Amino acid sequence: MHILTIIGARPQFIKAAVLSRYIKDNPHLGIKETLVHTGQHYDQNMSDIFFTEMDIPHPDYNLQIGSGSHGKMTGLMLEKIEELLLNLKPDLVLVYGDTNSTLAGALAASKLHIPVAHVEAGLRSFMMAMPEEQNRRLTDHLSTWLFCPTDTAVENLKNEGIVSSTGKPSADNKFVCKTGDIMYDASLYYRKKAVKTDVPDDFILLTIHRAENTDDSARLKNIVSAINAVSEKNFIFPVHPRTKKILTEQGLQFSSHVRLIEPIGYLEMLKYEESCSAVLTDSGGVQKEAFFFKKPCITMRDSTEWVELVDSGWNTLTGADTEKIIFALKNIKVPKQYPELYGNGETAENIAAVLRN
Ligand code: UD1
Ligand code: UDP
Repeated sequence: MHILTIIGARPQFIKAAVLSRYIKDNPHLGIKETLVHTGQHYDQNMSDIFFTEMDIPHPDYNLQIGSGSHGKMTGLMLEKIEELLLNLKPDLVLVYGDTNSTLAGALAASKLHIPVAHVEAGLRSFMMAMPEEQNRRLTDHLSTWLFCPTDTAVENLKNEGIVSSTGKPSADNKFVCKTGDIMYDASLYYRKKAVKTDVPDDFILLTIHRAENTDDSARLKNIVSAINAVSEKNFIFPVHPRTKKILTEQGLQFSSHVRLIEPIGYLEMLKYEESCSAVLTDSGGVQKEAFFFKKPCITMRDSTEWVELVDSGWNTLTGADTEKIIFALKNIKVPKQYPELYGNGETAENIAAVLRN
């Protein structure tokens, strides 16, 4: 079986690291994988660093799409992915998550009647204004195989009429299953390799990059004000290039208790997650990683796809409300219960087993 996998953005390299390594290490599965990098992320520490330090197979193709508006980026990807699919004729196209690279891969494949497998299917924020919500909803409806991380994700699909049906899998005869969360597998495997780095005794790990926060000057200002107001705590902030650019454009500055650093590799990020006292973020993946390391998380969004973290008390949603962020930062509590939410670390095995059959 020939699978063509499309990746393009930072979290997708981390997710692919698990499954691509599993496929490479298990030739008896009879799966040949072609790895295609769209080039959506391209800076050394947004892309290459992950391939070198995580032992991810080097991409067979890099489409070098780069940055741009949503339409332009997705359109260029569609054109180039289609060309590649016509040449390589894979049996299946595999996509991860909810970025523009995900949608372009799923759309190009389904127009050519090549079945699509979606890893991290069924997540919903119920906010269609988010580019990620548009990408993931469309991708789910185009897919044949839908690999869901949680029961909630399976339920979300059911509510949209997407359920497993009998018969030969196709875009009309879907196969939905809960596999566990592939980022949990990644954290289990790579935490043993986490890079030792000098960390302060007590700090909060901060990340901000969501369009809904960075592209809304009032929200971004509220967030910066809240963090600046909590000067009794130290923050370490690996800054996404999108956020760096907008902070400069808006003339927004953090006070000296916030240490801004360049984006870091995953192995160093794991070390920070392991050593921090709490996480303040708007990232999808970082919310879960906080939980993997038993760290309370405050999420600066109005809703989250990872609702089980909120229900279990490990995640607090504050939106971009200055007072709510300050209150949450001053009242951080570690819940007593630690439920098993994301599987048992065998997501790659589960996905490969379904695909092979
Ligand atoms: C994208 C995904 C988002 C995901 C995030 C992971 C979409 C619509 N969004 O958001 O779901 O959470 O990746 O990090 O696909 N830039 C650089 N260098 C890079 C990459 C980006 O400078 O290597 C800057 C450019 O100014 C670019 C901006 O960041 O315009 C935004 O990049 P883009 O890939 O469009 O979206 P992300 O915010 O990274
Ligand atoms: N990450 C990283 N270095 C950083 C920031 C994040 O390796 O400087 C990792 C993080 O550990 C997680 C993933 O990138 O595994 C999350 O990506 P991001 O927050 O960019 O996107 P999202 O998950 O919100 O789509």
